[in-house]
Amino acid sequence: MDYSLQADHLTKSYNGQLPAVHDITLKVRPSEFLTLLGPSGGGKTTTLRLLAGFEKPSSGRIIIGENIVADESHFVPPDKRKVGMVFQDYALFPHVNVAENIAFGLGGAREKRKSQVAQLLEMVGMAEYAERMPHELSGGEQQRVALARALAPNPDILLLDEPFSNLDTGLRSQVRSEVRHILLETGTTAIFVTHDQHEALSLSDEIAVLFEGRLVQVATPHVIYNRPANVSVAKFVGEANFLAAEAQGMTADSRLGEVKLFHPKTGQVQLMIRPEALAVSFEERGTRATVRWREFYGHYQRLGLALSDGTELIAHTGVDRYFQRGNNVSVSLEMPALAYDVSSKIMLD
Ligand SMILES: Nc1ncnc2c1ncn2[C@@H]1O[C@H](COP(=O)(O)OP(=O)(O)OP(=O)(O)O)[C@@H](O)[C@H]1O
Ligand SMILES: [Mg+2]
Repeated sequence: MDYSLQADHLTKSYNGQLPAVHDITLKVRPSEFLTLLGPSGGGKTTTLRLLAGFEKPSSGRIIIGENIVADESHFVPPDKRKVGMVFQDYALFPHVNVAENIAFGLGGAREKRKSQVAQLLEMVGMAEYAERMPHELSGGEQQRVALARALAPNPDILLLDEPFSNLDTGLRSQVRSEVRHILLETGTTAIFVTHDQHEALSLSDEIAVLFEGRLVQVATPHVIYNRPANVSVAKFVGEANFLAAEAQGMTADSRLGEVKLFHPKTGQVQLMIRPEALAVSFEERGTRATVRWREFYGHYQRLGLALSDGTELIAHTGVDRYFQRGNNVSVSLEMPALAYDVSSKIMLD
């Protein structure tokens, strides 16, 4: 089997409105962790609901394993798709305990179910909590039970819709690492939805960026961050500086002098420069700038710089040098920049 899941030209319109999901084609390999990343209203939940079988596509096809589960003449209901789903609000059954929540989707003899539940609880680090009721658990603990419940029927694919969004920052990063680890251990194929770029970049094998119901780019986190398909993606997946420049092949003239380009271009372009690509120094090497503001994050500093013509840039630097507001510094770019056509969507703001 080449793919665990394939979506071909999937489109979904609700009640004749503009499509919430438009012509999506995706392929997910076995054991892959794919993230759907995009702004609110972009169609992420709709895509998951189509894959799970909670919605019927308006057109297009879904194949899970080797079976067509949705097209114009097939529709396999959710409970027959071998797909597990973890929702944002956990949705545990409130009136039964943790073990019964997990056992819910399990068939077979009572003794066998009991040992499977024990095994799942062990896996999510909740072995001591079998008898607890959902309201006696913290958010992170409920999240782990929800995950165990979704994994119990041994699904081929696990769909996770913003499962960490109700957790506070510390717990969130802990639970997401744990969940990632469990999925790696069980070799489960997962499709994960988030609008948090840090979560997407840190967890995923592949990221599919979804804007206004359309897929804009599907690539590894590294490529999404370093070679975003357009200006909107560049802005959505991290901080970015944009600088007007005049390109001549593999170089361009800009306020930072002559910079190298990743791809050949000619004419007016906008350069995309990540803050950590800028080198800031007290020595005279580069363009003069003034430090307008500084934020200290322990392992790096975030600097607001202004060039003499008022151009503003954000730079991230190490903490070996201590910069302060009002410092005169020089700024340079010592690696190639990505150049976009001036007409690329979403302009400088
Ligand atoms: N049941 C529905 N009926 C009509 N329109 C819907 C329905 N569900 C979603 N939509 C619309 O479809 C579009 C996509 O919604 P969806 O919930 O898929 O977005 P999302 O990317 O998950 O957003 P969020 O990050 O806010 O959860 C939105 O414009 C939304 O209003
Ligand atoms: Mg959603």
